Amino acid sequence: MADRPRGRRDPVRKIEVVPSILSADIARLGDQVREAVAAGADRIQVDVMDGHFVPNLTFGPLVVEAVRRVTDIPIEAHLMVERPELFIEAFAKAGATLIEVQVEATTSLFRTVESIKEHGADAGVAINPATSIEALREILPYITLINVMTVEPGFGGQKFIAHSPDKIRRLRAMAPGIEIEVDGGIDAESAPLAVKAGATVLVAGSSVFGHKQGIEAGITALRSAIG
Ligand code: DX5
Repeated sequence: MADRPRGRRDPVRKIEVVPSILSADIARLGDQVREAVAAGADRIQVDVMDGHFVPNLTFGPLVVEAVRRVTDIPIEAHLMVERPELFIEAFAKAGATLIEVQVEATTSLFRTVESIKEHGADAGVAINPATSIEALREILPYITLINVMTVEPGFGGQKFIAHSPDKIRRLRAMAPGIEIEVDGGIDAESAPLAVKAGATVLVAGSSVFGHKQGIEAGITALRSAIG
């Protein structure tokens, strides 16, 4: 792995499943994370929202610290916040392995990405459904992952936006080797569409933590849907 440039993926590597805790039972977060890890989650995503960039308020660095105490698998901090550059150090110190910032949320994306890496985390950039992939072209060489939001961010349990696979295909053509993550409305129906279009990392909240038969069944359903 060490000889691969940062974030370039081996095309034969398996697709990663990343439960996001937004839809977990927060009163039992530790148990829910343990269950997801035992069921084969590759990473955990913490959906950070500030009530400004999105109309919802969720978790801070303390929750990343708490999840880090429960597992040593990679933790992604998805900062759906204005001026994310103000929070990089806190989330890196809390134990985030990868920090994702929204391309729409900062006027200094290059400096923010450099700051994430200076603080020892991998850098990712997330783009909202109406943002063009062209907004990523110049930052591509400096990041490990792109998160293509397949819903308007802010809430779990929303519907996968139908034009997303086309956007993922165009992005994959622009960025052949990078990790492409999808986030929002990812379930057994939409996951294969996203993977076929070129996605390699699946964030899933409600289809895992809200699955009727439980977390393990949710993760298993995703994995069998993508074969
Ligand atoms: C932004 C959040 C959600 C969450 C996934 O809204 O980032 O996308 O992670 O939620 P589900 O999988 O329930 O759509």
